[in-house]
Amino acid sequence: MPAPRLSEMAPGVPIIPVIVVDDVADALPLADALAEGGLTCLELTLRTPAGLPAAQAILAERPHITVGIGTVLSVDDLNRCVDAGVAFTVSPGLTDPLREAVARSPIPHLGGCQTISDAMACREAGLLDIKLFPAALAGGVPLARAIGSVMPDLRICPTGGITADTAAQTLAEPNIFAVGGTWITPKTAIAARDWPAITRLARAATESLT
Ligand code: 3PG
Repeated sequence: MPAPRLSEMAPGVPIIPVIVVDDVADALPLADALAEGGLTCLELTLRTPAGLPAAQAILAERPHITVGIGTVLSVDDLNRCVDAGVAFTVSPGLTDPLREAVARSPIPHLGGCQTISDAMACREAGLLDIKLFPAALAGGVPLARAIGSVMPDLRICPTGGITADTAAQTLAEPNIFAVGGTWITPKTAIAARDWPAITRLARAATESLT
């Protein structure tokens, strides 16, 4: 049975903070700060060793938050995430082995696409939700529109270069179901444990959609 689609899970406000943490102890205050600003769907990344344990800490303590893992680069990464019980996985691109594995994964996966051919390969594998990455470099909204014109069944989450100023206009596209990015959780704010600043950024993002 195919995994459910993230685009059909309605995990709240369609803005997904992409998070890099160095310290697992930051996981809960960070997740709480984002939730207070209205964002309850998060992507922790495997860019640091703390990423997966941080996701597990949030999963265990904050069941109302949808926690995914990004920067999945290999089948082994994918298996570790599925075993950890995360809600979804994300990869910046797709290799042939990873595409085959995510097509069989029990949880939703957003596979990174940069071109029409990447999107076709995902569609062929039954992966109808894709991540457009790095969106600003790959072609942004015009590329999302081009994908929509030939593959209207795909739903897209652009990340990479999305900002507070472009999130709302990007989400106005009918085939874009969410946007992601690091602008809500800047490295400097996490390092300073400035949780109120993160709540302010999350709230600004949430309110930009209304
Ligand atoms: C991602 O993995 O989606 C990106 O690193 C986010 O890119 P950004 O830093 O430009 O938001």
